[in-house]
Amino acid sequence: MKIISIVGARPNFIKATMISKELRKKHKEILIHTGQHYDTKLNKIFFDQLEVPEPNYYLGVGSGTHAQQTGQIMIRAEKIIIKEKPNWVIVYGDINSTLAGALEAAKLSVRIPHVEAGMRNYNNKTPEEINRMLVDHLSSLLFAPTQSAVENLKKENLTRGTYKTGDVMYDAVLTYKSSAEKKSKILTKLNLKPQGFLVATIHRAETTNNTAKLSSVMKAFSKINESIIFPVHPRTQRAIEALGGLHLGSGNVKMINPVSYFDMLKLVKNARLLITDSGGLQKEAYFLKTPCVTCLEDNNWPETTTAGANQLIGTDVNDILNAVKKPYQKIKNANEFGNGHAAEKIVAILEEESSQELEPLLEKSGTSES
Ligand code: UD1
Repeated sequence: MKIISIVGARPNFIKATMISKELRKKHKEILIHTGQHYDTKLNKIFFDQLEVPEPNYYLGVGSGTHAQQTGQIMIRAEKIIIKEKPNWVIVYGDINSTLAGALEAAKLSVRIPHVEAGMRNYNNKTPEEINRMLVDHLSSLLFAPTQSAVENLKKENLTRGTYKTGDVMYDAVLTYKSSAEKKSKILTKLNLKPQGFLVATIHRAETTNNTAKLSSVMKAFSKINESIIFPVHPRTQRAIEALGGLHLGSGNVKMINPVSYFDMLKLVKNARLLITDSGGLQKEAYFLKTPCVTCLEDNNWPETTTAGANQLIGTDVNDILNAVKKPYQKIKNANEFGNGHAAEKIVAILEEESSQELEPLLEKSGTSES
């Protein structure tokens, strides 16, 4: 098989590395990096630590509006897909690069496997939900990480090509957690004791682009009477500066640059609690048995909330303060997310599906007809 994988931002790199390792045992993978994330601290360090192969193509799209990012990726990816003639174009998760890659592959009649299909928060105001829904409906193979994802797809009549595979992010945590434990020096560097601190991240547009929500979260952080390590995404940094650094005067909140994958695993594993609006981190906390408070109104990882390990509480100051104090259920295991072999399963399904009779691909030139 010849496969193009399209990646663009931090969470993609983590998912793609697990699939890449498996694919490259027998098949040819061409990696396209869209350049949606371009800062070293959001980008290169992940490639290095996770040993993601060097991209064959770097599209360099960088920041921009949703239309600019999506459009530029489509324009640049089109030439590559036409030239490489892959059997599949794999896309991951729910970011703008995922949507752009899927749209372009679909226009060129190349089949799309979507890794992490079926996630829904049923809130069309979030860019990720728009991306997830459209990509699932464009894809030929839907690799759903959990049973709830399979059920979500069923509600939209997406049953053909749907497979429950387990979660590649769980594979990644199981693969890398001991390396992270050994190699990350972040606790020593920040003078932290296990269980002696909280870790926090905030980056979603729905939080950072809403002044009331962002200042409420920052106010809650400043009132928490425990040390909080807060790696700050560039978008969040700018939004906090625009608020005049509001409410961060308590001395308990330590704002640091975004950290590497290994440092984040180590921080989350050793923290008493995570506070976040990230989808991926809610899961990683669950895999590492650390309780989580999620500053979102809706969520697509119900397994973590049902298990009593994750409280979905929005951005109200008092709700955050109460949630931080509340006792948690002990997290036993994460077997709703598979057995750590999701990537192997996905590649085996791809092989099986590739052996089916296919219509000729890329017969169209890519130009539209009037
Ligand atoms: C994107 C994804 C989000 C994912 C997140 C992981 C979309 C719609 N959102 O959000 O789902 O959880 O990645 O981090 O695709 N920026 C930099 N340096 C960079 C990258 C971005 O400074 O390397 C700044 C840009 O100026 C930009 C802002 O951060 O304005 C947002 O970047 P963007 O890639 O659009 O989305 P994320 O917020 O990172």
